[in-house]
Amino acid sequence: MKFHVNLVKTVDDSYDIEIGSNLLNNLKEYLTESLQQQKRNIAIITDSNVHTIYGKNFEKIVKEAAIQAAAGENAVKVNTVVFPAGEKSKTRKIKEYIEDKLIEWGYRRDTLIIAHGGGVVTDMAGFVAGTFARGVPFINYATTLLAAADASVGGKTAVDTEAATNLIGLIYQPKKVFIDTATWKTLEQRDVSGGLAETIKHACMADKEFFGYLEENIEKVFDMDSQVCKHIAEKNCEIKYNVVMIDEKEQGLREILNLGHTVGRAIETVSDYTLYHGEAVSIGIMAQIKLGRKFGYCTQDDVNRVESLLEKAKLPVKIPQEIDKEALVKKLYTDKKVRGGKLRFVFQKGIGQMVQFAPGTNAANAVYSNFVSEDTARSIISEL
Ligand code: GLY
Repeated sequence: MKFHVNLVKTVDDSYDIEIGSNLLNNLKEYLTESLQQQKRNIAIITDSNVHTIYGKNFEKIVKEAAIQAAAGENAVKVNTVVFPAGEKSKTRKIKEYIEDKLIEWGYRRDTLIIAHGGGVVTDMAGFVAGTFARGVPFINYATTLLAAADASVGGKTAVDTEAATNLIGLIYQPKKVFIDTATWKTLEQRDVSGGLAETIKHACMADKEFFGYLEENIEKVFDMDSQVCKHIAEKNCEIKYNVVMIDEKEQGLREILNLGHTVGRAIETVSDYTLYHGEAVSIGIMAQIKLGRKFGYCTQDDVNRVESLLEKAKLPVKIPQEIDKEALVKKLYTDKKVRGGKLRFVFQKGIGQMVQFAPGTNAANAVYSNFVSEDTARSIISEL
């Protein structure tokens, strides 16, 4: 006897991203409408920093939406779970803590999760949403430039382990993303710079004109110039979703979003997260462009322009002295692009394009990673 389980699927995971300054009313409107269509208990997941500054008002707005949607009947439950801010919280232990809170509050399949915070929060809340009761919907309300530039868009969710960052997780798309540039005002300089590292990555990867715009305007982000912040948020989204829409599951093309992350992720871990993600990516961008110069993918002028833009963004371009460079070389092998025990990198081609190594059978599975020997990687790391 043999059964065939026929599960051919057509999935529509499309969603809207709303970008603007102070979007709480938009969130309220969106929630009221969706709760009227379907009642769901709401769990807001946030970190201690965001909660201290914005938590009370945010929960109030969500509760108002719940009451408005109930129209005299019992409003749905709204609770907030808070975990300590920082990359070190992106663990299975914290995920379990959040899940236990949801269970304690009696949440089941009729749950809606709202991630309120930066990249760690959106990665964590998305992962909780993807596995709680075998998957419940979630919304991202992104409060940092890093989340706006990368984490809140594209559906990658995960936690870190000792062995490697983002090793355990899933691709699970949000139902809606809000990117509130007004909340960038309360970010520390290092966090603004961190978000700019992912922004510069996007420009290096896909948009020469945007790179030029950043050269002219990047300092204005530190003054929170609203036009510049808005433009940057929009450009980041556009560049990222144009990749994700073609290759959601990272068959090939999506690997270009990993530009600078091969060395970057390794430095972040070897530094025991004393370097922020964006700071580590900045050094990683320098590693790939210097390697690219060696291989002939870009000129010394390109290297100089990228280095000077990273410096304008107040980002490190050299490996801090206290980092053990040999430990760093070993750590490179935990990168997700490693194949058959060999290191692979993605490279920018000049400024605004990526090097494609093989066309693939469709736009999604084209090959953008190429092998680099350990000795070559070591020689670049020794230069930085
Ligand atoms: N952060 C890289 C990606 O979303 O693929």
